[in-house]
Amino acid sequence: MQISADQGRFLTMLTQLVDPTLAVEVGTFTGYSSLCIARGLTHGRLHCFDVSDEWTSVARRYWEKAGLAEKITLTLGPATETLREVEGPIQLAFIDADKTNYPAYYELVMERMEPGGLILADNTLRGGTVADPARTERYVQEMREFNELVINDPRVTTTIMPIRDGVTLIRKN
Ligand SMILES: C[S@@+](CC[C@H](N)C(=O)[O-])C[C@H]1O[C@@H](n2cnc3c(N)ncnc32)[C@H](O)[C@@H]1O
Repeated sequence: MQISADQGRFLTMLTQLVDPTLAVEVGTFTGYSSLCIARGLTHGRLHCFDVSDEWTSVARRYWEKAGLAEKITLTLGPATETLREVEGPIQLAFIDADKTNYPAYYELVMERMEPGGLILADNTLRGGTVADPARTERYVQEMREFNELVINDPRVTTTIMPIRDGVTLIRKN
């Protein structure tokens, strides 16, 4: 379920460019994308959110091995609840958890995002199915709805990068 190596490098580079004081990640799994973000931090911190103690225990091990554990905080639980505990302001966010809740994660992050901050959302092309009118499965429609929500949001400037399964870049104006 983890992002690819080219996406990882892209995340590190974007983190370096934004140079956040507070970055958040929604969907951490075994820790690869969080390591890519944490590697790009200079002074900032990364707050990770996931529901799985089992998978994130692997992440914790590798944060230690990489010498980055001190920059990363993990909160376990459904992110629609736990994200409410973030005070912000956030300058960088990576959304890569359950796709059904992308609109909720987007809004919770947006409320806490500093103007000029960057939200990244993964899997927004869904293997290209979002552009195929013949595909009407629920998971495809959900991502179409998320993409429409973002494109029509007057608070942001956005584009989809066709890297791997699609990464949407969303800048809060
Ligand atoms: C695609 S994986 C994340 C991959 C990770 N970003 C990487 O590249 O290594 C999705 C993660 O979202 C987590 N997740 C699923 N539902 C969630 C929820 N309601 N709240 C928080 N995390 C959730 C899963 O436990 C899983 O670890």
